[in-house]
Amino acid sequence: MYNNYYRDKVVLVTGGGSGIGRGLCEGLAGCGAIVTCTDINLKNIEETVRSIGKDTVTARELDVTQQADFEETIAGIVKEHGRIDLIFNNAGIGISGELRDLSIEHWKKVMDINFYGVLYGSQAAYLQMLKQGFGQIVNTASLAGLIDMIPLIGPYSVSKHAVLNYTRVLRYEAKAFNINANTVCPGYINTPIIDASPAVNSKPGWNREAIKPFEPGLPVNKAVVCILNGVARNKEVILFPRVAGLFLHFSRLFKGLYLKVSNKSVKDFREKFRLN
Ligand SMILES: NC(=O)c1ccc[n+]([C@@H]2O[C@H](COP(=O)([O-])OP(=O)(O)OC[C@H]3O[C@@H](n4cnc5c(N)ncnc54)[C@H](O)[C@@H]3O)[C@@H](O)[C@H]2O)c1
Repeated sequence: MYNNYYRDKVVLVTGGGSGIGRGLCEGLAGCGAIVTCTDINLKNIEETVRSIGKDTVTARELDVTQQADFEETIAGIVKEHGRIDLIFNNAGIGISGELRDLSIEHWKKVMDINFYGVLYGSQAAYLQMLKQGFGQIVNTASLAGLIDMIPLIGPYSVSKHAVLNYTRVLRYEAKAFNINANTVCPGYINTPIIDASPAVNSKPGWNREAIKPFEPGLPVNKAVVCILNGVARNKEVILFPRVAGLFLHFSRLFKGLYLKVSNKSVKDFREKFRLN
């Protein structure tokens, strides 16, 4: 379907130690790409690389909040392979809670990883791609970056709207230089992110309760197929699975109903999960 597109491509993936990022490294390696798998968690990327078992896939520790890490990593890739064809700015974190309970520090942490992490990776890759005259930048937002308003995940939602809008501008400006940019907008994918996300001022179990209507979530291997297919076809926004597209249309076409569903979610949170 898209295998040839990735053969011998030099690729950097962030957040490759878990979930979608790990799946992307596996999928890309399977297509014959030369992959640098990065994450803040070195042990997890070493595990990703070990399980793939190909010498075309290497692990490198990279904290996406550190602009210099990207510059060094990309310089290293270019020194070794002469170019970088693709970057997947995939690393991200979740958080839930009411705005009144979230501190500015909570906001900064989410924006630092989910938005600035994507910006630093995109900027470093873009400057190199301008020099070489080609490339593709793939940024992960979310269905939450497309829906107008989602209560109880404010910072996450804002960070993903920012990624989507930034990548749209990048796509527009970069086209003239033979550089593509795509935004990945997944609905619910079954990864560790739900349980790893702090639920601020909440009893345990809220994140699971909130995601229940969307269970069981798409398996990572199917998400990877959607992403690699969308990137190979250079789609502006890669929204999947189908139910995510339906939910987006529902939220726009039946706004009153969508707000009723949102009200119920907030009411449930306040009555059953919020502390004090
Ligand atoms: N799983 C979903 O339902 C879903 C839905 C929409 C969007 N997304 C987005 O997809 C991306 C991947 O999510 P996932 O579900 O695979 O999550 P995950 O928790 O399984 O993996 C995220 C990875 O990012 C890494 N990471 C966190 N902070 C980092 C940092 N500062 N520097 C480098 N790496 C860091 C983590 O160590 C982890 O390995 C995220 O951007 C997420 O917001 C996920």
